[in-house]
Amino acid sequence: MAVDPKGRKEPGYDRHMFICGHERPPNSARPSCKNQGSLELLPRIKQALREEGISSVRVQKSGCLDFCENGISCVIYPEGTWYQLSNGMDITSIIDHLKNGTISQTNLMKLE
Ligand code: FES
Repeated sequence: MAVDPKGRKEPGYDRHMFICGHERPPNSARPSCKNQGSLELLPRIKQALREEGISSVRVQKSGCLDFCENGISCVIYPEGTWYQLSNGMDITSIIDHLKNGTISQTNLMKLE
């Protein structure tokens, strides 16, 4: 069995956040999250977690999550909470969710 270079004893994270980084060409029938700034938002969230010293949360780019019209699409597990985010938004409540599981009601993805 290999020794984990970060000293972890078992695989997994307390929370796992996927942010869609999919990009479609201009004039596509559906919008895409990268074109709305998802890849600028993602490092802001990662940096905020680093500044808080939180290493038990994984934040990563995903492919299309298929809720493109409600992007920037994001989902956090294990809660299975879907958010509609925006580039430049106040990420305080999202960081709170990642830290302690508190759902950010104002950022929930809502379908019509
Ligand atoms: S492009 Fe982001 S959910 Fe489809």
